[in-house]
Amino acid sequence: MTQRTPPTIRFYTSNEGKVREVRELLEGRGYRVAWSRRELTEPQADDLEEVARAKLAAVPRGKDLALVEDSGIFVAALGGFPGVYSAYVLRTLGLPGILRLVDGKPRAAEFRAVVGLRDGTRTRFFHGAVKGTLAPRPRGSGGFGYDPIFIPDGKTQTTAEMTSAEKNALSHRGKALRGLARYLAPPGRVSRSA
Ligand code: IMP
Repeated sequence: MTQRTPPTIRFYTSNEGKVREVRELLEGRGYRVAWSRRELTEPQADDLEEVARAKLAAVPRGKDLALVEDSGIFVAALGGFPGVYSAYVLRTLGLPGILRLVDGKPRAAEFRAVVGLRDGTRTRFFHGAVKGTLAPRPRGSGGFGYDPIFIPDGKTQTTAEMTSAEKNALSHRGKALRGLARYLAPPGRVSRSA
């Protein structure tokens, strides 16, 4: 019996936490995820898809499917801030500084992700979002970034207190990646050659 080589998806990111989640989700669906560790230049844009589009335009053309991702946390009481600036705000204020910004305000927040795929000459974008609230203080050691302060609606744990499988099942990135997986291998089609 001949063994089919799993199609390779090359993920361009500097964020190891994203790589772990993307690998867990896509490798379970028969793809090989190769990591190209890159800090891709991001434009000043207030739209995740625009940022993902610019990232995708900056990655080299090769035989593999190329994957990029852009994500952020949008706090309603702050008019959607930090949104596309989430990485910068976390680096500069840290989680305690972000929690001070929402002190005494409604704590609703939403994580959003856009995953961009280049498949030959075609580019496709897949979106995912999860609503939740900001915890009073950081909890948990899993995940990355804002996970210790994000409690998805209907849960009591922060996403940093979940396993990565539990987080992927409900997260913005998990939803976007399941959209991508459906595009690559629609129901009824078992696998796809790269
Ligand atoms: P970028 O997509 O690299 O521009 O940065 C997104 C930033 O949003 C990351 O640095 C994280 O701080 C945050 N972020 C995005 N997704 C997640 C997540 O799943 N958990 C925690 N933080 C996240």
